[in-house]
Amino acid sequence: MRWCFLLLLAAGLLRAQAPPGPSASGYVGSQACKTCHADVWFLFYRNPHYRSIASGAEPPERTGCESCHGPAKAHVEAHGGKTTIPRAFSLMQPGQVLEACLACHAKDFPKVNIRRSEHTRSDVVCTNCHSIHKSPAPRFLLARKQQNELCYGCHAAVRAQFSMPFKHRVNEGFMECTDCHNPHGTFTPTWRMAERPRLVDQALGNEEPCVRCHSDKRGPFVFEHAPVRVDGCETCHYPHGSMNAKLLHRPVTATLCLECHNGAGTFGTRNSGIMIQSASHNLLDPKYRQCTTCHVRIHGSNSDSYFLR
Ligand code: HEC
Ligand code: HEC
Ligand code: HEC
Ligand code: HEC
Ligand code: HEC
Ligand code: HEC
Ligand code: HEC
Ligand code: HEC
Ligand code: HEC
Ligand code: HEC
Repeated sequence: MRWCFLLLLAAGLLRAQAPPGPSASGYVGSQACKTCHADVWFLFYRNPHYRSIASGAEPPERTGCESCHGPAKAHVEAHGGKTTIPRAFSLMQPGQVLEACLACHAKDFPKVNIRRSEHTRSDVVCTNCHSIHKSPAPRFLLARKQQNELCYGCHAAVRAQFSMPFKHRVNEGFMECTDCHNPHGTFTPTWRMAERPRLVDQALGNEEPCVRCHSDKRGPFVFEHAPVRVDGCETCHYPHGSMNAKLLHRPVTATLCLECHNGAGTFGTRNSGIMIQSASHNLLDPKYRQCTTCHVRIHGSNSDSYFLR
């Protein structure tokens, strides 16, 4: 049975690999590369880009090696050389790399505005993160390295943030950067008055990515706590890691709340405006300093406008 299967497979491969044949436009077909670039060739069958060779259904300019490197007739006739091939990536500028890949992949990124992303504008393009021929494993989506190591390579400070006592477990392999970010880019978000998009990915409905997992915080609530909805989760939480429990910005909850509910004007209060020493809140009494023992529904409530239940 097995040899029979192999025979079929071999027959399939032979048919699939039949070279398109030399053409006037300067395409010679991927078979022509085998003799000199055997190292690249014989790993290529594992590559998702091998599909164009296997199917044999694509036009020459979208098939195999030449779909990225360009027509190689002159290159083969010259027996190699970097300057004889239209697209030798080692000689290309970031903008040229981007265009070469987007020739096929533009339709993958309609939701991210890749040409205007922080990465693109800083000349970080496809080949900084993806390796076509030397990705360590196919399941990494042709990434140069395992994802967090790839990102830490350029964002060293972020590694330290994920090593703090309270953190999302990225280093432990439980989550990835791409659970919250889209490295290809993002459109302006609705929260934080669209300030600093930070490549933060958006959940359905243009919400923060956090609510994909913390869905109990999604709302909408009958009584919204304005900063959760308007300013976003990172007003009170560090998204990566923190010295403080629950990833909070402050070790003591009261100091976090009093950044806004501090009696300045009437901001953040409906009635009095004076939080430090109001009749109902005497902050000299330690019991009042742990605000969330009473205001338990701090992310929003469906039953109480003071978030008490
Ligand atoms: C999807 C686009 C793409 C396809 C298809 C492709 N290459 Fe490449 N190739 C690249 C990129 C990008 C580089 C630059 C190095 C890198 O990022 O891995 C490269 C580098 C190379 C190099 C330089 C040596 C090296 O490993 O860096 C050779 C030789 C090469 N390719 C040959 C081939 C051959 C032969 C094929 C067909 C079997 C092929 N390429 C198919 C994109 C492609
Ligand atoms: C006769 C041998 C030969 C054949 C056939 C050949 N190449 Fe090359 N190729 C070379 C040599 C030699 C170099 C130069 C390597 C160097 O200078 O580092 C080269 C360089 C390249 C590079 C430049 C890599 C870089 O960015 O530095 C690419 C891409 C490439 N070849 C792709 C192809 C493709 C695609 C084919 C098939 C259509 C092909 N080659 C066929 C010998 C060959
Ligand atoms: C000729 C068209 C074409 C070009 C040019 C091209 N790709 Fe692709 N790429 C494809 C196709 C087709 C797939 C397979 C898509 C699928 O499986 O649905 C793919 C898949 C991928 C994947 C996904 C891998 C996976 O495991 O799903 C990555 C990453 C990728 N390409 C990166 C690149 C980069 C980087 C470049 C530029 C160096 C590039 N591609 C150039 C057609 C192309
Ligand atoms: C800053 C790093 C980075 C850059 C720059 C980058 N990618 Fe990616 N790409 C990734 C990571 C990480 C993933 C895996 C995403 C995931 O696991 O959800 C990915 C996934 C992909 C995928 C497969 C999944 C998908 O979203 O469709 C394709 C195709 C792809 N990239 C192509 C490209 C192309 C083409 C370019 C350049 C135009 C590019 N990437 C630029 C990091 C990058
Ligand atoms: C080749 C280096 C490089 C790699 C790899 C890289 N980045 Fe970046 N990244 C940059 C540069 C440069 C900028 C723009 C300058 C800056 O703000 O630091 C940037 C910007 C960002 C920003 C926006 C910062 C801001 O201030 O708005 C985020 C978020 C980000 N990268 C996440 C990632 C993630 C996630 C990965 C891995 C998938 C990654 N980066 C991989 C170099 C890189
Ligand atoms: C739990 C979601 C989440 C995860 C996981 C995550 N990030 Fe972030 N990241 C954010 C948010 C939200 C911001 C915006 C923070 C702000 O604007 O205050 C951000 C900001 C950034 C910035 C800009 C930081 C700054 O202050 O200048 C970089 C760079 C960055 N992230 C890289 C990474 C990298 C690399 C990884 C993976 C190792 C990662 N992030 C994982 C949510 C996340
Ligand atoms: C991929 C799912 C996922 C995403 C996206 C996500 N989280 Fe989390 N988060 C978790 C899990 C799981 C935990 C549990 C703690 C752990 O991993 O040890 C957690 C823990 C937390 C905690 C601490 C809870 C505690 O009881 O100590 C806070 C606060 C938090 N996340 C806020 C956020 C914010 C803010 C964002 C968006 C910037 C976000 N999360 C995005 C999965 C996620
Ligand atoms: C106004 C400040 C503030 C904002 C904005 C905020 N949080 Fe919180 N969050 C807190 C405080 C305070 C706690 C600790 C509650 C406690 O002590 O019980 C907390 C606790 C949490 C916890 C852990 C305990 C629990 O209730 O599950 C998670 C998860 C969490 N927040 C996620 C989020 C997400 C997701 C967002 C954005 C949608 C967000 N937070 C926005 C103040 C805030
Ligand atoms: C970033 C600023 C900010 C932070 C931090 C903040 N709040 Fe608020 N809070 C507001 C705003 C704005 C309102 C809406 C006030 C209004 O409707 O007039 C509000 C409303 C409230 C209300 C309802 C009061 C009313 O009059 O409707 C309570 C209770 C409350 N916050 C408690 C807290 C507690 C407890 C914390 C700390 C865990 C906290 N807030 C942190 C800005 C903040
Ligand atoms: C012992 C329970 C308790 C604690 C602890 C507590 N509160 Fe309250 N808070 C209340 C109750 C009950 C109300 C309802 C209105 C009232 O009685 O003034 C309220 C109302 C509020 C209001 C709305 C007041 C107004 O004038 O509109 C704000 C804002 C507020 N609390 C913030 C805080 C902050 C910030 C802390 C922590 C420093 C805190 N609370 C701690 C019970 C508490």
